[in-house]
Amino acid sequence: MKINTKYRQIRKDFSLENNELYEKISELEPIPAVNPISLTWDKAIDFSVYDEQGNKWIDLTSGIFVANAGHSNPFIKEAIKKQLDSDLMFSYNYPTAIKYKFISKLLEISPKYFSKVVLLNSGSEAVDGAYKLIKLWAKKNNKKYIITFTGSYHGRGLSNDLIGVNKSNAQWANVSDDDVYFLDFPYEDFVQFDESKLPPKDQIAAFFLETFQGWGAWFYPEKFIGDLYKFAKEAGALVCFDEMQSGFYRMGPVYGYMTYGDLEPDLICVGKGISSSLPISAVLMRKELADVDENTDLHGTHSGNPICCAAGLANLEFLSSEEQSVKRQETIQIFEKEIGNLADLSLVKLVNVKGLIAGIIFENADIATEIVKKCIYNGVLPVCTFKKSIKIAPPLTITAEAIREAVMVITEAILSSAGN
Ligand SMILES: Cc1ncc(COP(=O)(O)O)c(C=O)c1O
Repeated sequence: MKINTKYRQIRKDFSLENNELYEKISELEPIPAVNPISLTWDKAIDFSVYDEQGNKWIDLTSGIFVANAGHSNPFIKEAIKKQLDSDLMFSYNYPTAIKYKFISKLLEISPKYFSKVVLLNSGSEAVDGAYKLIKLWAKKNNKKYIITFTGSYHGRGLSNDLIGVNKSNAQWANVSDDDVYFLDFPYEDFVQFDESKLPPKDQIAAFFLETFQGWGAWFYPEKFIGDLYKFAKEAGALVCFDEMQSGFYRMGPVYGYMTYGDLEPDLICVGKGISSSLPISAVLMRKELADVDENTDLHGTHSGNPICCAAGLANLEFLSSEEQSVKRQETIQIFEKEIGNLADLSLVKLVNVKGLIAGIIFENADIATEIVKKCIYNGVLPVCTFKKSIKIAPPLTITAEAIREAVMVITEAILSSAGN
């Protein structure tokens, strides 16, 4: 072993250049479907990821914000096994007891202004469902515009592309939605919410916000979001947060928008960390929105699958327990401090950190990608954005010792890229 600690094991012959399984799979899948980092996963337990050769990494990705409760969480595994043994693996959209329990738990841990839930399979689908509900609500209320932010990411279907990144994001389909209006994202703390840049107030149907901007964990300035929210309420417009990355205690409270103060959105899209494992997502909404058009189609063949609901229920029970909540507060303090210290390194332009999510910003994408690769060779797996950022989002169960070891590896990678 080149590296052999309690948390990291990297063999002398490990290389990102010669992974046979990766090559074989890449031949069968379209290029955009394959992760450009040639790493394969064999198993993942708590905050460790292993490949077939026995290399072991400290996972700082949570498998892209999914494994909030830790990979292969025993409590969730047990719930999945129990559901399997009950001989109900699928039920179309016929109600099941496990679905009822899961939705009830989801609403129990969520603010009381959400009273309805639609279950779907992926984050993109949840965003698509929210887009549809907003459009129907807008039509009914003689409103028009959806305000969103440039650079935000909302998934990969057509409606997701219409409200994500920028106005021409759905150009591949020769489609645009003239009622979607893009505002510049407030990357700097001093940026003020400026209503003069918006379409007529009484025609605004909704603000659609990624809770933080994903690629670099950019948070909105608190005053900006407070003013936006006040404006939306005055305008009678809906506020929707896409909580895909920020949900389920990632930023401290159950939903990330709660870190911005006393906001009461009309709907939120959630997924990923909702189960810490199997594919399931949801839109939570006020009752008025749920009733907007009873003829519209919101369910799918697999939505609310019983096994996914069992995983989701166990996950929410685990994450919302008093024990986890106390542990998490301590972990967050350590994480914010340790990651925050990286801002002192000369190559680092900025560190955005809140709860257990951080974005480290560099001069350019090449430096960031080089540092991610160095980390991987040294047993730490950060999120490679292929932009000028590295994202750090470990399972919320990570220990203080592992955080410190991972930060040491990241520091060494940054220092060596700076030529030190
Ligand atoms: C903010 C946000 N919205 C939507 C999505 C799409 O989720 P999914 O990949 O589950 O479709 C993602 C996925 O990364 C996301 O980060």
